[in-house]
Formats: sequence, C-alpha cells, structure tokens
Amino acid sequence: MKGVIPAAGLGTRMLPATKSQPKEMLPVARKPVIQYIVEELEKAGIREILIVTGKNKRAIDEHFDRDPILLEDLRRRNKYHQIQFLEELENLNIEIYYTRQTIPTGLADAVYKAKNFVGDEEFVVALGDTIIDSANNPNHLQRLIDFHKNSGALCTVSTEEIPREHCNRYGILDVQPFTSSTQSKPENSFVVKDLVEKPSIKEAPSNLAICGRYIFKPTIFDYIDKTTVGVGGEKQLTDAMKGMLEAGPMTALQLGPNEIRYDTGTFPLYAKAFIAMCLQDEEIGPEIKEYLTKLNLS
Ligand code: G1P
Repeated sequence: MKGVIPAAGLGTRMLPATKSQPKEMLPVARKPVIQYIVEELEKAGIREILIVTGKNKRAIDEHFDRDPILLEDLRRRNKYHQIQFLEELENLNIEIYYTRQTIPTGLADAVYKAKNFVGDEEFVVALGDTIIDSANNPNHLQRLIDFHKNSGALCTVSTEEIPREHCNRYGILDVQPFTSSTQSKPENSFVVKDLVEKPSIKEAPSNLAICGRYIFKPTIFDYIDKTTVGVGGEKQLTDAMKGMLEAGPMTALQLGPNEIRYDTGTFPLYAKAFIAMCLQDEEIGPEIKEYLTKLNLS
C-alpha cells in the first residue's frame, strides 16, 4: 500500500511557533513530528509516501533530503552520536514524493492531490500532525491495514474514545458491533453507521473520534469530487466519507493498549506529546523524569 501524509494545513492553532515553519516540523523531543509519522508508516510496511505540502513547508522536503556533506563533516569531527541520528533518518526504507496544495481549502482537497499517485490501489492516509505511538509489534497502523484487508470495507479508520466535551474538535463516529461473521475480528472493531465532522456535544452520536489514520479504496476521490464546503468553510474529508458510506461498508478500529495518539495541533496537546516522548528517550528520559518530580514537589 502507498501512504499519503497531508501536511498542508496552516497550523494557525500553533502560532506564533508556526508563523514561518511547518507545524509538522516542530520538534517532539529529538525529532520533528513528521519523522515519527514516516517511521510509523515504514514500520507498517509502506514503502512509498506522498507528502502533500503547501505554503511555508519547504523545511519538510529538506528534512528528508540526504545530506552527504553534513554527514562527512560530522565524521571528520568524530560526532558519532549525531551521525547515528542522521543515519537512522537516511536509512529509512521509504521513497518520499511531494506535491503541493496551492490553496489551503481543507483536508479533503489535500487528500485529493494524491489521486494520480495512488492510482487504482487502496491507500493509507496519516495526518501530518498526529503521532500514533505504538509499543506493539505489529504497530497500530499495521493492525489497521490487516483488519481492513479482511473487512471488505471501502474505508477503515482509527478511532479513540475522547472526553465528550471535546467532540467539537474531531470527526465523530456512530458505530455498531459486527453482527454474525465467520471471521474473527480484532477487539474493539466496529461497523460505522454514520459520521459527522466537529459536532456539538448535543449532536455527537458517540465519543469515538476519528484519530488521523484512514485506509481508503480509491473511490474516495469520487466522493471528494462531490463534497461541498463544510464545517469551518473547508472541504471536509469526513463529509466525503459520509457520501462513500452510502456505497458500501466502512469499518473502524479503536486504539488498543499501548497505542497512544499524540495530537500536536494545539499547544497543550503538543506540550504533552513533547514531555511524553522526552520521557521515552533512553538518554534524557531519566533526567526529565527527575525534573518533573522536582517540579511537582515545589
Ligand atoms: C481532522 C479531521 C477530523 C479528525 C482530526 C483528527 O481535523 O477533519 O475528522 O478527527 O483531524 O486529528 P483537524 O484536526 O484538522 O481539525
């Protein structure tokens, strides 16, 4: 399967940090957000990725460029530790392509830019500001792909329970359990009955949020074509998916134990992601933990 990472959003919720740099390049501990996502896709077996960029997003292309001059310079100065980080990045078994969304008209349009890239094949969409940290092997995305392949659905999405008062920040699912089936299904997997983008608490059909990982059959492009401007004055991917729901089944898989979503699109969530990833870092984790414990005492 090919992967698509929409990374064209303006990142206004992270201003001023994103005034002249992409939100996808903000560091979360040692690495920029988008590197975690590319690594997650690679672990799930994806070998070709299209990143949909836009205005002020050049730094993304440059991050994934090979840099033999920098490597050579580090070697000359015996900076082996830094070399190791760069080599990890350069050795990713993945081919990255880029295209641009010239006018930021919403997530649906950004995904539409991948139409020629994906051709007739099913494909993964992974939002460029959401890290799904998974201590499991296979990781969450691989589980999602495996589930999708056996489900016969037109689309499969990752979902997570969120506090009900946060429903107006997400696409929200209305789901039902699988009825009679000969195949066993993973725990907490559902049939999607309906979905709505950023509903009010009253309108929300559940507290299951779409959490940034999708698998689509390429017919999604037909439904994006038919989608009109929705919530926030943008063409919403959720609305295109709602159209697709009339054509065939849609399924959802909830994040499991040890599968954690870090949204880096708002400042408090970004700060939590940064701390969590620092704590996971073998080298600096203990020092940060000690510091946090000290803060707690004061
Ligand atoms: C987008 C999607 C929404 C989804 C969310 C996950 O919203 O439109 O359905 O729940 O990502 O992060 P955004 O965060 O771009 O407003």
